[in-house]
Amino acid sequence: MRIDIITVLPELLKSPFEASILKRAIDAGLVEVHFHNLRDYTTDRYKSIDDTQFGGGAGMVMMIEPIDKCISKLKAERDYDEVIYMTPDGNTLNQRIANTLSIKENIIILCGHYKGVDQRVRDLLITKEISIGDYVLSGGELGAAVLCDAVIRLIPGVLGNETSALTDSFQDNLLAPPIYTKPREYKGMKVPEILFTGHFANIEKWREDEAYKHTQNRRPDLLKD
Ligand code: ADE
Repeated sequence: MRIDIITVLPELLKSPFEASILKRAIDAGLVEVHFHNLRDYTTDRYKSIDDTQFGGGAGMVMMIEPIDKCISKLKAERDYDEVIYMTPDGNTLNQRIANTLSIKENIIILCGHYKGVDQRVRDLLITKEISIGDYVLSGGELGAAVLCDAVIRLIPGVLGNETSALTDSFQDNLLAPPIYTKPREYKGMKVPEILFTGHFANIEKWREDEAYKHTQNRRPDLLKD
């Protein structure tokens, strides 16, 4: 998979890709992540990427020209499955969206800033709009990092144990059941006996029941459909 991220603040985005699982995935050649600074696609000497709103109003708007130039250059080099715009009014990211994106070949992610982008960018160039939650960030970069993390860990081979992504919370619309490790007893708190029986079918059943109870308790909305 190849991810091209278009941003005015590449330095804000780089560190998540230089550590841990994301770095491992990149080093193993399972994913390529490229950063494109929008200012490299400007035409004036001030390297402007934004301007005031037509019709008046507070806040600057990102102009279409540098964005179009950058996306056109990328599209001339390869085909893209999706051109994603990070924005608080996009579809809220969830595990289903992450799963869908994890099997794509090439994607572009555009990070917004200020008030956002000229509407014509969205009408002409963007194929998917994603929000990471109902709050406003100062730019799309942190959202893009969250999206990339959620997607990249699902690419086959990225996680050491292939089954571990499949047993994550949300993967079957349930939250994950409780998990335990050593010691067997800590300050009087015991690990449930069932986990020591060696009876894997019963343990699996217990985990499913616990996952269901936990979901019922905390996120009953997930059980509705
Ligand atoms: N840019 C600003 N706020 C955002 C959000 N909540 N999700 C994605 N991109 C954003």
